[in-house]
Amino acid sequence: MTVPSSAAETLARLRCITCSATTDSVAPDFRCAACGDLLEFFFAERASGATNSHAPALKALWLSRRTSFGKAPRNLLDQSGVWRFREMLPHISEEHAITMGEGNTPLYHLAGCARASGVENLYAKHQGMNPTASFKDTGMTFAASSAHQAGFRWVACASTGNTSASMAAYAARGGMHSLVLIPEGKISWGKLSQSLDYGALTCQLRTDFDGCVRILNELVRQKPVYLLNSVNPYRIEGQKTAAIELTEQLGWEAPDHIIVPGGNLGNSSAIGKALLEMRELGLISRLPKLSIIQAQGANPFYRCVHDFGGAKLEPMTAETLATAIRIGNPASWKKALRVLRATGGEVEQVSEVEIAEAKAEIGADGVGCEPASAVTLAGLKKLRARGFVKSGEMVVLILTGHVLKDPDFTIRFHRGELFSETPDKTKDPTKALQRAPMVLDADLRAVIAALESTEGNSI
Ligand code: F0G
Repeated sequence: MTVPSSAAETLARLRCITCSATTDSVAPDFRCAACGDLLEFFFAERASGATNSHAPALKALWLSRRTSFGKAPRNLLDQSGVWRFREMLPHISEEHAITMGEGNTPLYHLAGCARASGVENLYAKHQGMNPTASFKDTGMTFAASSAHQAGFRWVACASTGNTSASMAAYAARGGMHSLVLIPEGKISWGKLSQSLDYGALTCQLRTDFDGCVRILNELVRQKPVYLLNSVNPYRIEGQKTAAIELTEQLGWEAPDHIIVPGGNLGNSSAIGKALLEMRELGLISRLPKLSIIQAQGANPFYRCVHDFGGAKLEPMTAETLATAIRIGNPASWKKALRVLRATGGEVEQVSEVEIAEAKAEIGADGVGCEPASAVTLAGLKKLRARGFVKSGEMVVLILTGHVLKDPDFTIRFHRGELFSETPDKTKDPTKALQRAPMVLDADLRAVIAALESTEGNSI
């Protein structure tokens, strides 16, 4: 049994997702020179079916890397949950690799959420357990390394906060400067503080995420700055590894459903691309259904699929407390549509109250996540209610960001301030899940009284 040589890895080429034109040189905005649409990597040697027999050897190789920590010579790349799978990725020279041991994220059973959703076999793949506490690190390690390999001094992104935190960290590790464009007042302090701490030049623009993207696209055409948004196909390649690692954790069995939040739609495209490539290579024998969930106030993809049959995407002004996915004009909608159809998944939308409830339920399982990640559980409940997900099926939610990314949301929720416009506080639908902190005198009796007054206590 053989595995692909590193020469085979280099056979990745860029191709336009619409006109299929192939290219080896890319424009600064990563758009097709012929038609302006997005590019993606494809692997010519796989198309010929030449590598199908490699599946068992690849699985053994990836496992041996994961367990190689104590063995000399130690290769840092083998400890990364992204670079460990490098045979699935385009080739980047090792000397340019910037890694912080990203990936390797846990898979949790969610017992309480399983009861709440009526799906017993419910798991969360927690991508918030990455070095900068979001899934972005898996794409960023790879794309920042490609910037390094190409010799750029500056990298840049427009962001709702997580991409910028991740980019700033990886740029710093790689000795590059980073420029962050974020919508003023619309990202969480936790995320903003990360990009400051990691040394990025951080600009808060008086616009939304989509406005930041427009300005960045102009900038990269005029200045030698490398674009690190998810239109950069290296980002997508790195983010594929979450799906590879997940199926490895499940003994190379695909779950029945994978559910992801949808914002700019890079992540769903990446996970879908990985699933299709894994099946093509014989690493998995069947495809899970990949479903995408959006916030109701930021639902351009939901409307694209349900109102226009996937024929067009109408940009909108987005509004949601889940600020990470407050995106009205998602760049990767065509890629996401393709994987949605290829896997037979669904698109759902969820309300602000449904998001907040789901976030508290994930928290109550001792796991926690940021609001944008919680749309997955909220969406699952809807997919279960209409019979798309069956009770006996295995479902994996992709939790994209750590609970500490947005503590303001969590505190306002538990204090009952999140839906303060609800006129009658006792009618707040999320009340049963709230656990407001109590301010007490420093007195043992007060603490005991609090303990005894707690509903359902058995002391
Ligand atoms: N969840 C979180 C926590 C995110 O930060 C994002 C996107 C998404 C989900 C949606 O993923 O865009 O690939 O569909 N955040 C980007 C950012 C836009 O700038 O941090 P997507």
